Amino acid sequence: MATKVLQFSRVRSSAWRPLLRRHTSTAAPTPSEIPVLGTVYPADAYTNITPTIAAKLTRRLHAQDGHPIATLRGLIESHFPDYAHLSSLSPIVTPHQNFDSLSFPADHPGRAKTDSYYINKDYMLRTHTSAHEVDVFTSGSERWLLTADVYRRDEIDASHYPVFHQTEGAKIFQTDAASLEAVEEDSRRLERELAQSNIVIEDVPHLSSTNPAQSVHNPRHSEIAAKNLKLSLNSLMYTLFGGVAGATKEDPLRVRWIEAFFPFTSPSYEVEVFFRGKWLEILGCGVVAQPTLDRSNVVNKMGWAFGLGLERIAMVLYSIPDIRLFWSEDERFLSQFSQGKINTFKPYSKYPASYRDVSLWLPSDGLHDNDVYDLVRDVAGDLVEDVAIIDRFTHPKTERQSMTVRTNFRSMDRSLVKDEVNELQAQVQSRLKEQFRVEIR
Ligand code: PHE
Repeated sequence: MATKVLQFSRVRSSAWRPLLRRHTSTAAPTPSEIPVLGTVYPADAYTNITPTIAAKLTRRLHAQDGHPIATLRGLIESHFPDYAHLSSLSPIVTPHQNFDSLSFPADHPGRAKTDSYYINKDYMLRTHTSAHEVDVFTSGSERWLLTADVYRRDEIDASHYPVFHQTEGAKIFQTDAASLEAVEEDSRRLERELAQSNIVIEDVPHLSSTNPAQSVHNPRHSEIAAKNLKLSLNSLMYTLFGGVAGATKEDPLRVRWIEAFFPFTSPSYEVEVFFRGKWLEILGCGVVAQPTLDRSNVVNKMGWAFGLGLERIAMVLYSIPDIRLFWSEDERFLSQFSQGKINTFKPYSKYPASYRDVSLWLPSDGLHDNDVYDLVRDVAGDLVEDVAIIDRFTHPKTERQSMTVRTNFRSMDRSLVKDEVNELQAQVQSRLKEQFRVEIR
């Protein structure tokens, strides 16, 4: 693991003093500079990107020929053939791009360093592909798809990984009569196509008092946009799931629309698809907030946008049981797939899991669960199957807080030996002590 730490260079210039020290006086020395994707950034109190996360930035699974994520991206792109297809934008963005340009309020929880990865206060890893909406609209593109890796601090289990992929799609149009008629004509075409398909859609009204048109929009235009959005996405869902679900007259594909809220769309919706007995959350979407287009210097136009998560869909389409598998470089995984083809994944034997618990007293200023998850992930990488806080309590007299962290270690590729797991757990414990001043109970 020592080699990984070297990604973060140690103090070299005396001109710059790491601010992080102020908060973690007894912590391990804080690197003052962080090289990420070939650029060196000064570290500061916001810095929380770990070497494990930094190493993901170059993987670009969505561009790896034959990888399920790349095949899924290709399927979506072929469904929107006349859209611009973007997939090479850097994951490093400013908080302005990720949040402000999309009208997120200043106190939105997503901005917290416990929820997002920051390189420093000025640069972060995008948490969603919407971070590029203003840039792409500014470039003049009126119909586009953008596929990329996105980063969120989260718990660790079979369907949560701190890196995943999204495809953002958008279409904007002028609001003169002829342009609106062209949108309505496109909607009629989609309606005819869907009428021939084995799909059942549970809809919600395009507009409602809780999901209103924007005040700057003519509600009729907003309805036209929302309807075109819904039809375009129902059609995409049929392309993705219709074949695999074996949708028939008796057992059609079921799609349901739900009212939602995003700071950068109104009205907003979420889409769920019923697949193998469960409703799966697939995407968020809505009519683009006019301030987004204003910031992009787009005038006299409105439109819609959506963002869908690729891993969830790929897990379902390929029957891939664990989200870590997407990151596997094992031939037994990769050789099962070829570009453009969806097939059922055949699990290779599952190796045994072993768990280790550690109980700790937290430092007086507390410790965020996500800091624990990232630390464990940084020590053991993809040998961690899941991490759970299985117990918490506060000492009645001293009021000190305690938690028990259970880490389930399992390799996807081989059996782990006991000594190896003990060594990983020992590293977890010593780093918890060094970095967060916890006391092992
Ligand atoms: N960016 C949103 C998310 O990640 C999804 C979204 C995209 C919603 C575009 C509306 C419009 O949850």
